[in-house]
Amino acid sequence: MVEWVRLTVINDNKPNSPLLNDWGWSVLVETDQWTLLYDADTEPRIMENNIDVLGINLGKVDAAFLSHYHRDHYGGFEYIGKVRSGLIVYVPETDKVLTKWGLTPVTVNSPREILKDAVTTGTMRGMGINEHSLVVKLSNYGSVVIVGCSHPGIDNIVRKVHEMFGNIYLVIGGFHEPSRRQLDIVAEYSRYVCPAHCSGDEARNYVKSNYSNKYCNVKTGISIKLPAL
Ligand SMILES: [Fe+2]
Repeated sequence: MVEWVRLTVINDNKPNSPLLNDWGWSVLVETDQWTLLYDADTEPRIMENNIDVLGINLGKVDAAFLSHYHRDHYGGFEYIGKVRSGLIVYVPETDKVLTKWGLTPVTVNSPREILKDAVTTGTMRGMGINEHSLVVKLSNYGSVVIVGCSHPGIDNIVRKVHEMFGNIYLVIGGFHEPSRRQLDIVAEYSRYVCPAHCSGDEARNYVKSNYSNKYCNVKTGISIKLPAL
C-alpha cells in the first residue's frame, strides 16, 4: 500500500490565475512509490506552461494514464511526447494518436495493477465511450479514485471500485453532470467527494450543500495531500 498520495491539478475547467486554463483535465499523481501523469488536458501550450509554473519535473514521471480518447484529455500528450519520448501511457482501447506523438500506449482491457498499488478499473463502456479509471490503494484509508469524464457513470465506477477493494477514501475528476441520485451513491461510498472538470456547477453545489464534510473544491493548480485533507 502507498503511504501518501499528492494530487496536483495541472488543469481543470476552473481557472486559477496566473496559471492558464481551458476545458480539460490533467492531474499529477505522486506517491511515496511512484509518480504518474493522469490525462493531459486539451492544449500542449497549457500543459507546458502550467507544468513549468507549478515546478513539476516531468523527468520523475514513471508512467501516464489516459482515461479515454477525447481531446480534452489527450490533446496535451503532444507536448508530453516531445519531452518524454517513449513514456508508457495506459489507455482503454487501441491507440488513436499517442504513438504518432512518440509515446508508448499500452491497452488495458481488464483490471490490472499498473504501478505498485495503482490499479486500473479496466475498460468500462458508457455513452458509446471506452473509459477506464485509476485506483490508488492508500494504506489504512482505502482507495483514492481518479476519474476522467465518467462516461460509464460515476455511480457504476464507484460501485465497481468498492466491489474490488472495499473502502473508498476520495473520488476526484469529471462526473459528467451526474444526477443527484448518482451523487448520493458516490457520497455513500466515499469519505471525500471532489467533483471537477465536466461535473458541472450543479453537481458541485449539490455536494457542497448536502455533503459539506465530504466536499472538496477543485480548480487548476491546487494540490491535495492524502491522508489529511
Ligand atoms: Fe472530459
